[in-house]
Amino acid sequence: MSNKIPSGFSKLSKEEKLKVVAGQFADSDTVINEFKSYWHADANKQKVFDEFSENTVTNFYFPFGVIPSFQLNGKEMMIPMVIEESSVVAAASKSAKFWADKGGFRAEVVSTIKIGQVHFIWKGEKDKLYAAFPSIKNELISQTKHITSNMEKRGGGILDIELVDMTEFEEGYFQLKASFETCDSMGANFINSCLEDFGHILKDFAAEYEGFSAEEKEVTVIMAILSNYTPNCLVRTWVECDIKDLGTFEDGMTAEVFAEKFAKAVKVAQVDTYRATTHNKGIYNGIDAIVLATGNDFRAIEACGHTYASRTGKYSSLSEIDLSNGKFKYSITVPMAMGVVGGLTALHPLAKRSIEMLGNPSAAELMMIAAAVGMANNFGALKSLTTTGIQKGHMKMHLLNILNHFEATESEKVSAVEYFKTNKVSFNSVRSFLIALREEIITNAGKSAEKTEVKAN
Ligand code: MEV
Repeated sequence: MSNKIPSGFSKLSKEEKLKVVAGQFADSDTVINEFKSYWHADANKQKVFDEFSENTVTNFYFPFGVIPSFQLNGKEMMIPMVIEESSVVAAASKSAKFWADKGGFRAEVVSTIKIGQVHFIWKGEKDKLYAAFPSIKNELISQTKHITSNMEKRGGGILDIELVDMTEFEEGYFQLKASFETCDSMGANFINSCLEDFGHILKDFAAEYEGFSAEEKEVTVIMAILSNYTPNCLVRTWVECDIKDLGTFEDGMTAEVFAEKFAKAVKVAQVDTYRATTHNKGIYNGIDAIVLATGNDFRAIEACGHTYASRTGKYSSLSEIDLSNGKFKYSITVPMAMGVVGGLTALHPLAKRSIEMLGNPSAAELMMIAAAVGMANNFGALKSLTTTGIQKGHMKMHLLNILNHFEATESEKVSAVEYFKTNKVSFNSVRSFLIALREEIITNAGKSAEKTEVKAN
């Protein structure tokens, strides 16, 4: 094992980098072989993955699964999910089935506006800056036409630019706060390019503006960057049916009792931040899986969702329930900035296939799909939590992971799956089952050896 990291690591070849990485382990040779075993056999395909990031030494696999049939806005679709947590795909599929004969999931895009900011320092008479702003705004829009004209042809572009006074927080601090429509793309590069140009245009304008004093001609651009908070890029998704049509639940729980208990569980997530975090995490189980499968940015979408969940000043549930007039109406409103062109969506071969599997949706349609699946996961979690408890289903799905942990053989897995259809799964119960099974096999093997011996005698 060698812990020495050479300088200029990033300049090394992939093989050389892997050697250095393996040097961090006691069994370096094994690590080299193990890491290499996850390289793609086709060097060209591997190169595509290597170039997504930097200092890559291997690939980290995640399972790609599907919800076989999901009804959204009256359309049936197969939905790809990339996620490592067992029971997420199963829960979403089960919810999809539950709602299929009750009208399925519904969703609508409330708005699709994205925001970017140029944060700058300008010291002078505020009124002068505000008076100059209409001319500044014209320059910002006209001098960025080389970036925006294509987007405008697609129906998007810069929607508005505001000057925001932030001087109560920091002397001389102002913002250019711009709103954008980016159509089918996530638009990060488009927005950031516009914003960086805004910074230069603003500086040049101030430097040459006759109405400004020498000090006022100075603009210090602190930074120009999009905001991942997109409270006006919103999707609402919902399910609804007569309460009586919810059916009956485990141990004969009636639809009415279920609906009331479910509503209380939602209320808990609305008033208690500890529960709200887990509740919303369950929503993002579904959303993230689609965001990943389609090559979108799950960190941006998560960060935005949690900020949105805190918009009243208290972190709360993203979902709402209404049981009036004998109806069960459950809805989620989430910000969702997704794209179907640009970025990884076209570069990652499986992201491309995911989008194709979904019927090549527009960005707005993809946003609705992701939100609806988030809702399916959340509904599934609350349904389990308020009826059987989560562990029964979760541990059943986790069974294969536990069996793999104990290095169970394929035939042991078959026996275990059969046995645990009617027995409670836990780490210990699976261990005990395997010990008993292995002892039984040894005993039986001993007996048949004895028999053979007896026969031979
Ligand atoms: C687990 O990944 C997600 C849940 O904890 C969500 C929830 O409690 O609502 C089951």
